[in-house]
Amino acid sequence: MSEAPSYDAIILGAGAAGLMCAAVAGQGGRRVLLVDHTDQAGKKILISGGGRCNFTNIHTAPDRYLSANPHFAKSALGRYRPQDFLDLVEAYGIAWHEKTLGQLFCDGSAKQIVAMLLEECAKGGVELALGRPVGAVEHGDGLYRVAVGDQVVRAAALVIATGGPSIPKMGATGFAYDLARRFGLKVVEPRPALVPLTLGGNEILFRELSGVSAEVVAKASKTGFREAALFTHRGLSGPAILQISSYWRHGEPVAIDFLPDRAAGWLREAKRAKPRGTVRRVLGEALPERLAETLAERLGLEGELAAQTDRKLEEAERTLAGWRFHPNGTEGFAKAEVTIGGISTADLSSQTMEARRVPGLYAIGEAVDVTGWLGGYNFQWAWASGWAAGQAL
Ligand code: FDA
Repeated sequence: MSEAPSYDAIILGAGAAGLMCAAVAGQGGRRVLLVDHTDQAGKKILISGGGRCNFTNIHTAPDRYLSANPHFAKSALGRYRPQDFLDLVEAYGIAWHEKTLGQLFCDGSAKQIVAMLLEECAKGGVELALGRPVGAVEHGDGLYRVAVGDQVVRAAALVIATGGPSIPKMGATGFAYDLARRFGLKVVEPRPALVPLTLGGNEILFRELSGVSAEVVAKASKTGFREAALFTHRGLSGPAILQISSYWRHGEPVAIDFLPDRAAGWLREAKRAKPRGTVRRVLGEALPERLAETLAERLGLEGELAAQTDRKLEEAERTLAGWRFHPNGTEGFAKAEVTIGGISTADLSSQTMEARRVPGLYAIGEAVDVTGWLGGYNFQWAWASGWAAGQAL
């Protein structure tokens, strides 16, 4: 191996956070090497948002992020805001639209976002090393020495931007955690998040509803999301379930309110108004037919409304407002949009993302124990943390 020229910073991982960090540091006059083991930068950006990249969310706020330290993300999110990224998007003439709930998407393609970030890197003179495996990382005499392909490169600063292990087939690895641990940083147990939940046992029958969706409120650990839930051949998915999966813990139930707009007493009122109606038909007015049929069957309320006691109808209302599912797991890292947990924020500066006790070592993006809701929040964290480190390098 030959000793290569040194850089001011080596950034490992040319994903969302690494690209932003490299561009900012490069434009700040730093000599930057941006390394990735895959041959394409920003692979997850390219597939995100169905190919249109939900690149930020205008409702970004620290309470939309999960972390062992809920305050950690405040500084970076406060200094690099959705509007800052939007200004960049507009400066490149990339057309965008708000889809729903503050989620901003490209009108055209996610490729535009990657091209924009690569152009920003080029402006900063960033050197790219794509398709190059990262080997041994050593630290001594104030320098990091990293084996990149068949070279050893050196820099005073090393940035871990290799993301989390969700979707390994895209090149995702747990490399960030191994490297962090080697330098004595703690790692909060990584778990798949924004991931479909699986059903088993008696609830397996709900799989027959595969493809059916409805707007519900899904709740786990007292947190609730009102969005669509989708039955799948393995269990439950859709935005409401993906959101709640970040809060769900094994062994806990997920409660679903199938009729969030109905006020207490609505079934009794339906009985007065349409005594000859059935629960199935009343449910069918608000829910997809197959779902209404399954729920009515499971409630054991067949036959005319007039034949049901008020007490039974009240009980049914309560059940429908908090239907308890007992997921037996998730679809795992193979299907998880993000990883919750990661490099402990306790070991990092919230201003610069530098490790408190390891000078020159930084961690940004999904590798860190900060995980956003569905809807552009995770990219905003990648941009903001990448920007904060890029400024500090
Ligand atoms: P990211 O994963 O982007 O980049 C890490 C980089 O490190 C990769 O290029 C990888 O190849 C590289 N790497 C890994 N191990 C390495 C190693 N050992 N050596 C060298 N390089 C290594 N978020 C959002 O806000 N809006 C959205 O629309 C979506 N949509 C979406 C769809 C899908 C299908 C997924 C899987 C995820 C999303 N996300 C999202 C989440 C978003 O993609 C994610 O939070 C960010 O990409 C995280 O950015 P990072 O740069 O931290 O990691």
